[in-house]
Amino acid sequence: MAQDVVIAPSILAADFARLGEEIAAIDAAGADWIHCDVMDGHFVPNISFGADVIRAIRPLTRKTFDVHLMIAPADPYLEAFAKAGADVITVHAEAGPHLDRSVQAIRALGSKAGVSLCPATPESAIEYVLDRIDLVLVMTVNPGFGGQSFLPSQIGKIRRIRDMVGDRPIRLEVDGGITADNAAAVTAAGADTLVAGSAVFRGSGPHDYRSNIAAIRAAAACGHSGARA
Ligand code: DX5
Ligand code: ZN
Repeated sequence: MAQDVVIAPSILAADFARLGEEIAAIDAAGADWIHCDVMDGHFVPNISFGADVIRAIRPLTRKTFDVHLMIAPADPYLEAFAKAGADVITVHAEAGPHLDRSVQAIRALGSKAGVSLCPATPESAIEYVLDRIDLVLVMTVNPGFGGQSFLPSQIGKIRRIRDMVGDRPIRLEVDGGITADNAAAVTAAGADTLVAGSAVFRGSGPHDYRSNIAAIRAAAACGHSGARA
């Protein structure tokens, strides 16, 4: 199903000392969604922020909050993130043994359910939850840190997931090392939702963020129109 491209800046790359201002800046600069990277120092080798921070910034914009949980276990914390205002909650297929239970729990809380795959995880991991999810997130770096290089090995996986999804209303998101230089390649393969951290938050404020988002969006649109043709 053809859907418009969504650009989701990751606030992991924001200046945390001025997080409120940074949210307002990307909101004004044309961000479609706000991507929140939650890391636990266990599932991934880094710690970021949790539900209390998301609750604090939630009133600052009306944009969709796209919460990417890089935590294991995830199930005990789903309710806290839903209550904090997460519109989409994405768990990793590798983070626990009961993925179907996790996605059912997310939907029961009233949020949209996403499943993320690390670079070494095959697309078959989502085969039996496809009818229960709203988003698939293909990691194009190994999760844990912003500013890493895009892994071209994931292009084939994006293409195969696009075929698996068929006409289901599922967004296909990519995350990690996305820039204006590779945005067309991922949308041509079938991605329709692009996370970008360092490529959005470079420069010094709303004016630069606006041109960074616009450059990614323009490149993504080229690949997307090719994918639909
Ligand atoms: C990586 C995170 C990403 C990351 C993206 O673990 O899930 O969202 O912050 O940052 P860039 O775009 O800098 O790779
Ligand atoms: Zn992320």
